[in-house]
Parts: sequence; C-alpha cells; structure tokens
Amino acid sequence: MLKGKTVVVGVCGGIAAYKSVEIVSRLKKLNADVHVIMTENATKFVQPLTFRSLSHNPVLVDMFEEPKVWDIQHISLAEKAELIVVAPATANIIGKVASGIADDMLSTTIIAADCPVLFVPAMNFRMYENPVVQRNINTLTDLGYIFMEPESGQMACGTSGKGRLPSPEAIVNYINDLLAKSKDYSDMKVLITAGPTREAIDPVRFITNPSSGKMGYAIAAAACERGASVRLISGPVNLEKPCGVETVYVTRAMEMYNEVMKVYKNYDVLIMVAAVADYRCAQIADRKIKKSDDNLTIELVRNPDIAAELGKVKGDRILVGFSAETDNLLKNASGKLISKNMDMIVANDVTMEGAGFGADTNVVKLIKRGGNIVDLPVMSKKDVAHRILDEILNIKNQNEIDRT
Ligand code: CTP
Repeated sequence: MLKGKTVVVGVCGGIAAYKSVEIVSRLKKLNADVHVIMTENATKFVQPLTFRSLSHNPVLVDMFEEPKVWDIQHISLAEKAELIVVAPATANIIGKVASGIADDMLSTTIIAADCPVLFVPAMNFRMYENPVVQRNINTLTDLGYIFMEPESGQMACGTSGKGRLPSPEAIVNYINDLLAKSKDYSDMKVLITAGPTREAIDPVRFITNPSSGKMGYAIAAAACERGASVRLISGPVNLEKPCGVETVYVTRAMEMYNEVMKVYKNYDVLIMVAAVADYRCAQIADRKIKKSDDNLTIELVRNPDIAAELGKVKGDRILVGFSAETDNLLKNASGKLISKNMDMIVANDVTMEGAGFGADTNVVKLIKRGGNIVDLPVMSKKDVAHRILDEILNIKNQNEIDRT
C-alpha cells in the first residue's frame, strides 16, 4: 500500500523505542522505503543494527560520521521524505523543534524538511501534562505539525495516565491514512475565511465577537497538508499563520468581502468559516466618543453577506458555510444552506460541551443539499477539518458524475 513512499522514522530515547522496531517492520511490509534516524539516547534502548536489518537502509545517528556516499545526509533525507514520523517523540525533541533548535541528525532533518511531520509523543503522564510541553505541542500544531494523541494506561515507570505510545498497528494505520490523504487535494484551490471581523465605533472601540479562528485555520492547514493551494482571508486572531498557506489579514467585514470577491473566481472550493459581523456603524466617529449622562444610540447598517453573494455567482464551485446556533440547529442551518445556495453547511450547537468559540474541539453536523446529514461526535478541530474536506471531495466526485 505504501509502495514507493519514502518514510523517515525518527526514534528518540524513551522506553517505547522498542515499539518503533515493529513500526519499521510493518512499514517495510507495506513496501515503504523506510529510513531510520535515531537520537544518541535512543541507541541506549535499541541497537541501530536492529533498524538497519529491518529497514534495509543505513541508520543515521551521528551528524559527523563519515558518509557512505557523498551527500549532506540530513538535507538529502529531508528532501526525499514524503513523511517524517517521530515515534516515540520525547518532550525533548518536541521542545527542540518548537524552539528551532537543530543540534543532532533528527532535529536537523525535521527542521530542513518540507514534508508533513507526525509526532507520536510517549512520556510519563506528568511530563505530557506539563504546561511547557503542552505549549510546545500547541505551537507546533499551529505551525502545521501533526500530533497523534498518546494513549492512557499503565506506564513503564509504574504509574498510570496519558502518555503511552499507541500500538504500532494504530500508528501505521495513521501513517497510511496521512499518506493516502497527502495528495488528494493536489489539483484543488481552496479559499477560506476565518476569525471574527471588527467594526469600529470610534478610534478606540469596536464591535466584534468571540470567534478564535481556530476552526478556519485548522481547515486551511489540513487542506494544505493534503496538497491544496490555499488562500486564507483572516480577521484579527491570535494564531500563527498556517505553514504553506497564503494568508491575507483583514479587519472589517467590508474588507473581507472585497478580498473574497477579488479572488473567488480562481478557486474551486470556497469555505466560509468567518464569523462576519452582520452590521457596521453607520458613522465611525473620528475622535473618541466622550460619555455623557444621556444614553447613547449607535445606528448600525447591514454588511454584505459574503456567503450569500458567493452563492449567487459560484457556478460549479463548491460553497461550504458554517452555522453556529444556540436554538433550532437543524432548521436554522438548513435554512441558511438553501437561502445562501451552499453545497454543504457545518452546523454546530455552541451551547454543547466540547463545541463553540475558542475551544480546541468541536461537535458538528455536516448537512448537504438534499438533506443528507453526517453527525460527528466530539472531535479535535483538526479531525473535524479533515472530515469536512473528505465530504467536499465526495460532493466534487458526485458533481462530476452528475455532469457526465
Ligand atoms: N456569512 C458571511 N457574511 C456575513 C454573514 C455570514 O459570509 N455577513 C457566512 C458565515 O461565514 C457562515 C454563514 O454565512 O458561513 C452563516 O453565518 P451566520 O452568522 O451563522 O448566519 P447569518 O446568515 O448571519 O444569520 P444569523 O446571524 O441571523 O444567525
């Protein structure tokens, strides 16, 4: 299944390193071209010879070892790799990559690579829960690095908690999915809006909403990972620009509308995730408004509905919207799907646990034209992003069948 795919397996110094032996063996059985890079500490747990025998390739540990053939090995492997899997990934390697430290063969290869990098953390549960480690994981996730969650259970150190390496079978299935997905958007151009908009009242005040932008950014990163050419038009958020995504920043709904209308024709898929302000101030005061004893009335005028405008002109493009509701989820979301001429709407009840603004997870229903509904359980925003992209491909394939 993985014939011809070059997978670099990075092995770090943790007791779970013995499980990497089975990961390499399973990848090899699926016909992948497997190259192992070990950290110095990993060699204390497993001999490089074991990996060399299973992968049929030299194992790299030392940056300064005399090369067998002349090339700069961390650069040539970084260029050749279609996926780098770090399993087990220790707190140390996660911290190094998050800080841009490249001081051995593995960290140097990861930092020189432009393919997807999957980290599978394995460590004592207190280390895994440490805010510094979690901050590093979040930093890397925001930059487009991929993390597979560790399992909970009995640990080698005798304690119990979250931090065990998942089974080699589960890791190889995950790798398989990633590589299968890695190119399925390669001929697609995707335009995404994300985050809130801000409507000024005066030079120091504005109207906005609590959208964090996380869902839109997760979709942009996932589409990019799967080979799409992605443009993200983002309102003001506190997130890193996703790696490889062309990102344009706007503030007001009118600016977002103008940016979208300027470029939408060049895109095949339009995903409107932004929480766009429906109204703006009729008049923006050019000096700070001073309080008085009277009440203050601000007149608001309608902003354009970007998704609805796209619905009128979209042609064969696939238009996807979002609907965050507190009441009558299906009725309200389905109404927007039809009235804005969308192909799919992602509906979420923001009052549910695990859903809503700012959360790292979401609970959504994907409603398609014709009434087909995919009901998803609570998932990370990243997994939701991939399920949305999967459904968009199904719509595209169905549209192509309908056209022939
Ligand atoms: N949307 C948009 N431009 C707007 C308002 C909404 O592009 N001015 C898009 C959103 O990005 C989302 C969808 O329309 O994909 C639904 O947004 P939502 O705010 O839920 O719906 P509204 O039509 O504004 O309805 P209401 O606020 O009354 O629920």
